Amino acid sequence: MFARIAGVGSYLPGQAVSNDDLVLRGIETSDEWIVSRTGIKARHLAEPGQTSSDLALEASRRALDMAGVDVADIDLIIVATSTPDFIFPSTACLLQGKLGNRGATAFDVQAVCSGFVYALTIAEKFIRSGSNKKALVVGAEVFSRILDWNDRGTCVLFGDGAGAVVLEASDRPGILASALHADGAHHGILSVPGNVCGGQVTGDPFLRMDGQAVFKFAVRVLADVARECCAAADVLPADVDWLIPHQANIRIIEATAKKMGLGMDKVIVTVDRHGNTSAASVSLALDAAVRDGRLQRGQKVMLEGVGGGFTWGAVLLEF
Ligand code: UT7
Repeated sequence: MFARIAGVGSYLPGQAVSNDDLVLRGIETSDEWIVSRTGIKARHLAEPGQTSSDLALEASRRALDMAGVDVADIDLIIVATSTPDFIFPSTACLLQGKLGNRGATAFDVQAVCSGFVYALTIAEKFIRSGSNKKALVVGAEVFSRILDWNDRGTCVLFGDGAGAVVLEASDRPGILASALHADGAHHGILSVPGNVCGGQVTGDPFLRMDGQAVFKFAVRVLADVARECCAAADVLPADVDWLIPHQANIRIIEATAKKMGLGMDKVIVTVDRHGNTSAASVSLALDAAVRDGRLQRGQKVMLEGVGGGFTWGAVLLEF
């Protein structure tokens, strides 16, 4: 019994906001700086009032449509997000309500930019255990809401969006191996160190990052966890058809591919179009690769996430 992807979908809100648009909005930056340091050319920002569950809804409908699965047949909904609509109920339950599904297991996963890889791995384990048959796994974020727009070192890097997959029990190969890790000793290098207490925001409710520390950590762990996953599935890195890493920074992506011995022609890159969308990024890139015809059934794909916590992980699957 495998857990296999039956359909994918994604959604980016509103119009693309270019680097030059950010300059016009008064941010002291330049297209040249952002592109040369990160590869980002544009991002999408949710409309006021548009929430993670709204973005998740659009992406989910597209994934269900591609899979040809009725929403009533979904028995597991997992949403990876660090920007939930509310403290509670979970964004997964809100999504479930909007989709009109009743009775499925539904919960959120909080692993920041590794969230989609975490959620997919969890869903696979539910399916392989036999407890669930059809899962909707979503990464959805409105990171624009937690950015300090006066901090040019972070606000130019992130965007909003959602991606979804339908994962179902199958006797054909699907997920071959996965590995999830975390090291809370590094919680301080990427965080939103605030909360709500007694009706007041406590601490600092904006994203804070030590960019260089994150960069070094990400390059090291992404290469390591990819090797770990390949070894677990007895697949050579050279036999991976597509690498779909977390879309945060083209330089991190290039360094990871190089360490794995993969050419950039085997790497899916969408960070230029939507910036870092945290838990949504891997699912957005996966959907792009399927819909533009590069990723074909039967090919081997390595998905990789890394982010706050620190968390990191990979899923190797046959599409
Ligand atoms: O999901 C994981 C999320 N995080 C990441 O993936 C981030 C990983 N880190 C990075 O991608 C890079 O560290 C950054 C892109 C964030 C920064 O690149 P860097 O090469 O590490 O730059 P820096 O922070 O050392 O800053 C270099 C200069 C500074 O100016 P001075 O002190 O050299 O005069 C900054 O003030 O660039 C300046 N700077 C900017 N200039 C124009 C910082 N942000 C900007 C900006 N526009 N937006």
